[in-house]
Amino acid sequence: MRIAIGSDHGGYRLKQKVIEFLKETGIEYKDFGCYSCESVDYPDFALPVAKAVASGEYDRGILICGTGIGISIAANKVKGIRAALCHDCFSAKASRQHNDANILAMGERVIGQGLAIEIVKTWLASKFEGGRHERRVRKIMEIEKEES
Ligand code: RB5
Repeated sequence: MRIAIGSDHGGYRLKQKVIEFLKETGIEYKDFGCYSCESVDYPDFALPVAKAVASGEYDRGILICGTGIGISIAANKVKGIRAALCHDCFSAKASRQHNDANILAMGERVIGQGLAIEIVKTWLASKFEGGRHERRVRKIMEIEKEES
């Protein structure tokens, strides 16, 4: 599995922690920035990660900002992206099983690093269940088509 990861300054420290976990686990990734705690704009990092996932170049994405809100809203503007903001393992699992989320968003200012890593582990291990959920995800894609 190839992961595209990005953050703004508000998520930089947690991104580094997640990268450490990906390295330790042997999961391939590309860090799309940012590269320090200097103030930046989260859409500038949501866009390349979302494009990398939507194009199929990367299988899934992880985006982090202060709250996870701005960066997930921005990522969800890219066609084909289903970015899920998750701050607990139950939602992380459901976002894969029910929504086929292809980007996990988190907020560094909201949760601790320990929980964040558990969320990442759960999210990466969970699979889309298809069935009735397939129909609903297809309807999301139809909305995207209609609105573009
Ligand atoms: C940056 O201060 C902060 O607004 C950003 O990281 C994020 O929380 C936005 O949704």
